[in-house]
Amino acid sequence: MKLFIGYASTEGQTQKIARHIADYLVDHGHSVELMALADAGPIALSRFDAAILGASVHVGHYQKVLSEFADTYADGLNAMPTMFLSVSLAAAGHDAEDWRALDTIISDVSDATGRTPGKVLQVAGAYTPSQYDVFRRFVMRRIIAAKDPEADLDWDKEYTDWEALDAETDGWLSQASI
Ligand SMILES: Cc1cc2nc3c(=O)[nH]c(=O)nc-3n(C[C@H](O)[C@H](O)[C@H](O)COP(=O)(O)O)c2cc1C
Repeated sequence: MKLFIGYASTEGQTQKIARHIADYLVDHGHSVELMALADAGPIALSRFDAAILGASVHVGHYQKVLSEFADTYADGLNAMPTMFLSVSLAAAGHDAEDWRALDTIISDVSDATGRTPGKVLQVAGAYTPSQYDVFRRFVMRRIIAAKDPEADLDWDKEYTDWEALDAETDGWLSQASI
């Protein structure tokens, strides 16, 4: 099957996740076109059998390019199986309030674009001080210190569970009969 994977990534973890899924799908015999949504340009989505979109949460929002893309291609996306990868640090924890906030962020995008993704996968992202400017480093150090006391605040830390990601992708593929 031929799949489109489009992602928006500010510090690089969603890009890494999208690439991982692309490699996984290719290894399992699928054909994949992977691109940053920001570079996507006009696309004939009807060339694809299914689509995966991914974006990361920053201060309670996904990158604007995600809703722009979902809005522009709503008809094409509604006509095929889709999976949305919501990448955040909230998904790395078990805080009920954080998870409710993730649901709200998804609802906001659905309301704005008039479409609901077939499957939503909440994916734990990464703490990447190597990618932050001074302000972001200050803010994120405080958040991680509170959420993950074991983290070394000077070093990048990946929370993404790659095996769970593969299993969820398999589940979506078989449920969507792809
Ligand atoms: C400035 C900033 C704000 C963030 N805000 C949130 C947030 O509101 N909720 C959350 O769960 N994660 C938040 N994160 C964590 C990111 O979602 C996480 O680091 C993710 O892996 C980033 O993905 P990317 O590297 O693809 O951009 C924030 C990160 C940064 C740097």
